[in-house]
Amino acid sequence: MGTIAITGSSSGIGAATAKRLRADGHTVIGVDLRGADIEADLGTPQGRADAIAAITEKSVGVLNGFVPCAGISGLPGRPGSILVSVNYFGTVTLLEGLRPLLAKGAPAAAVAISSNSTTCQPGYSMELVDACLAGDEERARAIADAGESLNTYPATKNAVAKWVRRNAVTAEWAGANITLNAIAPGMIDTPMVDEGKNDPVVSKGMEMFEASIPVGRPGRPEEIAGLLAYLLGPEARFFCGSVIFCDGGTDATFRTNDWPALWTPGA
Ligand SMILES: NC(=O)c1ccc[n+]([C@@H]2O[C@H](COP(=O)([O-])OP(=O)(O)OC[C@H]3O[C@@H](n4cnc5c(N)ncnc54)[C@H](O)[C@@H]3O)[C@@H](O)[C@H]2O)c1
Repeated sequence: MGTIAITGSSSGIGAATAKRLRADGHTVIGVDLRGADIEADLGTPQGRADAIAAITEKSVGVLNGFVPCAGISGLPGRPGSILVSVNYFGTVTLLEGLRPLLAKGAPAAAVAISSNSTTCQPGYSMELVDACLAGDEERARAIADAGESLNTYPATKNAVAKWVRRNAVTAEWAGANITLNAIAPGMIDTPMVDEGKNDPVVSKGMEMFEASIPVGRPGRPEEIAGLLAYLLGPEARFFCGSVIFCDGGTDATFRTNDWPALWTPGA
């Protein structure tokens, strides 16, 4: 049994995961805007620094697992800059800041939350993905605010997946016996999805997306919690830099033949 920190622990996937891990006997340190062990706004540099300091204090400097689950969706009228700051910088800043604690708790595991919107939603900005990966929050926020936050969401989640793949294999992560992976859920029945279903502009598209899910329903937060519990556990030590889709078959439908893609070295 170990000590595992989770952001976004007050709702949806984060809440289900905290519940599952506590039931499995782990000590869970939850972080959220409200209703958590640690209350912090991960959309600001100060909130992120406060969260890292508070987790360090509560865990006495040793973590066995970390799930940066806090996130916010795109909606008409919502600035994309908020998504950039919460979904990407709120994820990678905490991964970086908590890595030394995970190294002390090794064997340890971190699992970030990407999304199947990365492969199933067309037309988002790769310039925004690159600005995130460059660590340029100001530029990324400006690019996002020049467009629609509905298109910002998959860009932030693409950048999270790429950050994970770049870092997982390094001496700081794999070399320190910390597995780092990402999951890419499809539509999961949470308050985030309810928010979209209640929006008059987005609801129609969400209904169509839901109707297209091959298994015939959205996912349940508990199903994602089970996947996360496995990836944090002792049987998943050979996962490194994986982006694991759990989406009821949407990616397999939309992108059937796109991957595995042939590797052409040097191309
Ligand atoms: N639900 C889905 O269909 C779906 C699909 C793919 C990925 N995801 C991702 O899964 C994660 C969890 O989503 P969910 O569906 O459970 O959503 P949710 O809205 O139920 O929960 C998200 C949590 O993040 C917290 N949060 C938001 N902004 C924050 C901030 N600035 N600081 C601290 N906490 C903040 C919220 O307060 C909330 O408790 C998110 O990263 C989301 O992007 C969700």
